[in-house]
Amino acid sequence: MRPPLAALLLPLLTSAAPTTLIPKSAFANTSTLEQYFTYNYPWGGDTHNGGARMAPSHATIPSPGTLTLTAQKVSGQKPATHGGKQIAINYLSGAVGAKQHFTIPAGGGLAFSGSFRATTTKGTWPAFWLTAVNGWPPEIDMAEWKGSGKISFNTFNTSSVVGWKDVAYPNADAFHDIRCEVRDANGRDARVQFWMDGVLQATQWGREYVGKPFYLVVNLQMEGSSGSPGPGGNTTYSIRDLEVATL
Ligand SMILES: *[C@@H]1O[C@H](CO)[C@@H](O)[C@H](O)[C@H]1NC(C)=O
Ligand SMILES: *[C@@H]1O[C@H](CO)[C@@H](O)[C@H](O)[C@H]1NC(C)=O
Ligand SMILES: *[C@@H]1O[C@H](CO)[C@@H](O)[C@H](O)[C@H]1NC(C)=O
Repeated sequence: MRPPLAALLLPLLTSAAPTTLIPKSAFANTSTLEQYFTYNYPWGGDTHNGGARMAPSHATIPSPGTLTLTAQKVSGQKPATHGGKQIAINYLSGAVGAKQHFTIPAGGGLAFSGSFRATTTKGTWPAFWLTAVNGWPPEIDMAEWKGSGKISFNTFNTSSVVGWKDVAYPNADAFHDIRCEVRDANGRDARVQFWMDGVLQATQWGREYVGKPFYLVVNLQMEGSSGSPGPGGNTTYSIRDLEVATL
């Protein structure tokens, strides 16, 4: 039997088409990169919680479509200060932050995706993450590699109440697809789901994430949580097909 016309039309009328907020072409060249991203950390500043000082010259597009962040061992750098502590700076490296902020809409959600070639060597700490514009947390580590051979997926309610999952990371020399969907779960909290290479890895929950703006950061931190000393030569972290869209 044919379904009534209204049953066919209703899904079209009620589900909004996804909107692209950052297109996959964002890393086509330096002009598109600079249209969507700023260099260093998006809240301002060139150091954070590890042993790298970020510099624009370490975030480049060596071939169209691929952003490469390069960490280079250096000496003579002024230490960083984070959480009241001094951190030795042993590297110059690269970070980019989205110019726009991303807010999980009531009744909707956002998808963050891309393809990543990351290192899992001790002392290297590449990441793809969201963090609160106002205060902290919220924070979602959509993918981070802390020099252990694993990839980590984390959602913070407080500094000590954290949903986390560490997963074995195969073939670090290859690109791997990462996707994170953050949806309104109940008008207040968010459901956060993480995929690697198309396979769901974890489902976590962010307390009171709905309606709060996030920064999006892609950076190659060094040492810190990934151990030290880090490598003596250059380390690279490459990203392509990064996209942000509504669900
Ligand atoms: C950069 O890439 C965009 C998107 O593919 C293209 O429209 C633009 O012409 C390119 N600009 C330069 C300077 O190559
Ligand atoms: C974070 O808060 C949400 C909402 O209250 C809850 O469902 C989730 O279990 C909490 N996460 C952890 C790790 O306790
Ligand atoms: C290391 O990286 C820096 C910054 O990108 C670059 O100038 C330098 O040539 C690289 N060194 C090697 C040996 O590749």
